[in-house]
Amino acid sequence: MGRTDRKPAVVSAEGQFNENEILFRTKEKKMKQIDLRSDTITLPTTAMRRAMADAEVGDDVFGEDSTVNRLEAMAAERLGKEAALFVVSGTMGNLVSVLTHCGRGDEMLLGDRSHTFVYEQGGSAGLGGIHPRTIPNQPDGTLDLDDLEEAIRPDNIHFPRTRLIVLENTHNRCSGSPLPSEYMRRVGTFARRHGVKLHVDGARIFNAAAALACEASELVAEADSVTFCLSKGLAAPVGSVVCGTRDFIAEARRARKAVGGGMRQAGVIAAAGIVAMTEMVDRLADDHVNARRFAAGLSDIRGLSVDPAIVRTNIVYIDILREGLTSQDLAQRLAGKGVLLLPTASRQLRAVTHHPIAGKDVDGAVDQIRQAMAE
Ligand SMILES: Cc1ncc(COP(=O)(O)O)c(C=O)c1O
Repeated sequence: MGRTDRKPAVVSAEGQFNENEILFRTKEKKMKQIDLRSDTITLPTTAMRRAMADAEVGDDVFGEDSTVNRLEAMAAERLGKEAALFVVSGTMGNLVSVLTHCGRGDEMLLGDRSHTFVYEQGGSAGLGGIHPRTIPNQPDGTLDLDDLEEAIRPDNIHFPRTRLIVLENTHNRCSGSPLPSEYMRRVGTFARRHGVKLHVDGARIFNAAAALACEASELVAEADSVTFCLSKGLAAPVGSVVCGTRDFIAEARRARKAVGGGMRQAGVIAAAGIVAMTEMVDRLADDHVNARRFAAGLSDIRGLSVDPAIVRTNIVYIDILREGLTSQDLAQRLAGKGVLLLPTASRQLRAVTHHPIAGKDVDGAVDQIRQAMAE
């Protein structure tokens, strides 16, 4: 059986395109790669591996893993919430949060470009019977308050009950935009006025805080719950954390168990999360500098459209203007040159800067893209 025959039939986690194809071809050539597909490809640091090897562990379903308990306490404090829950992924964090806030037949309002709506398999509907109602995301990732006002259901036997608003900060599909604290507060106040809860998908909340020069806790001060990821720009191998009130987290812990997310000696991975939170947050600003440098480098390449002015964090979207060139074609051409980008639509690619991509790497990637577009 050939190597490609054994390739699992997976599709990109964030789109309908198969980037494995690209990875395999590039690996065969054994060239130095600049992999900008996602910040999820970051590898655990040496300090993380040491911490994992040395971690004190116990049975976390019994609440006896002291490393998990330490990570949860640290996360709750950093996000300004009473309590926290370690989960395996951002998707699980969002799912258990939504399952905790809403019951079957309840409605949640969320952006039409949000990760929870687009990329989480509709899990809240499939597993929780929760009705998703989308609101158009503005280009900066926000939801217009007038649109939200319009969408809140009056008490009427014909309607589902509006229970929850979900915001995403930074907003992945909206150019990685950070949503400012003033906006976050306004939505929180709005939610309270209408008796609905606010959940924040803060997979990259520390990127938002770095871009806005504020504390992550300020961004979620009015939120009832927040999920953030340790395994993206913070480079831990596994894990996300949900934060909220003590009561909310107690219920979310039940939901986590129901979806099979109760872990045992999870301190082995939580230890890497502790290193992620203590050592990897401050360097996120470097990723933002590199993303802007990358976007600026691409901005004069004919046949592509990139706007450096909208790059505020670590995500850059590249639109293809050249007739007849698809994102799959361009991604494969670039893979042959050692640059990996993620096709996110038929004529769009995404690049995400992350540890340990440096300025010279993004300059190298720009050169290769320029060459590929000149061929
Ligand atoms: C904004 C956002 N939320 C949630 C997730 C889901 O995280 P995970 O891949 O850990 O399930 C992602 C993943 O890329 C994301 O970008």
